[in-house]
Amino acid sequence: MITTNKNKASVILFLSAFVIFGMAAYNPPKTPVQDGYKNLQVLPKDISKEDLDKVMKGFTEALGVKCGYCHVHTGDDWRSGWDMPSDDKEEKGIARYMLKMTKSVNVEHFNFDNSTQPDTIHVISCVTCHRGIPHPDAKGIAEQMQKMGAGGPPPGMPPPPPGAPKN
Ligand code: HEC
Ligand code: HEC
Repeated sequence: MITTNKNKASVILFLSAFVIFGMAAYNPPKTPVQDGYKNLQVLPKDISKEDLDKVMKGFTEALGVKCGYCHVHTGDDWRSGWDMPSDDKEEKGIARYMLKMTKSVNVEHFNFDNSTQPDTIHVISCVTCHRGIPHPDAKGIAEQMQKMGAGGPPPGMPPPPPGAPKN
């Protein structure tokens, strides 16, 4: 294959556009909180901006999605046009359900030390199941494994014992 400098330059330009876009996408849009948050039903209503940002960033990383996966956004500019309190996206409702489920698993099944503050137990979190994908059901996991390398074990993993099931 013959590559001209012009081709190389456009490939580099193309790739750096991705990097810049990626950084922008992971830089959460600014949200003024002068009046406090408007529609928190599961998280503490008086949560600080710092803590809320941490929780939201945790969601994006655990599920491998961006804010717009759960939040309504209109227009072409990712910095504006957000309606974070809106419940119009079904995914936000599912995330609330998941928050409650995760909390109850922690409180009911991982409070081995009989803590008087079981709310502070975070043994299980979104990433425990999601691991970077939005649908960690059997189908979603199978698809992810395939992407990771045609179903083979990752490098460094010992080979499966003889007679082990193929999947
Ligand atoms: C997996 C879904 C999900 C993702 C992704 C997500 N959020 Fe949220 N967000 C929620 C849920 C659910 C709530 C409401 C929590 C509650 O009811 O206690 C919320 C609430 C908020 C609120 C409070 C709005 C209000 O006034 O009530 C802000 C601000 C917010 N998110 C910002 C963000 C930002 C910024 C990102 C991207 C970095 C993000 N969210 C990504 C699910 C998500
Ligand atoms: C015990 C495992 C487990 C934990 C913990 C968990 N999830 Fe899930 N979640 C799932 C499974 C499994 C599905 C897929 C369900 C399906 O597709 O029927 C799912 C689906 C979702 C979906 C819907 C995806 C879609 O578009 O349909 C959202 C949103 C979500 N989870 C958010 C979260 C958030 C946020 C957390 C942490 C607060 C969390 N989950 C914790 C197992 C888990």
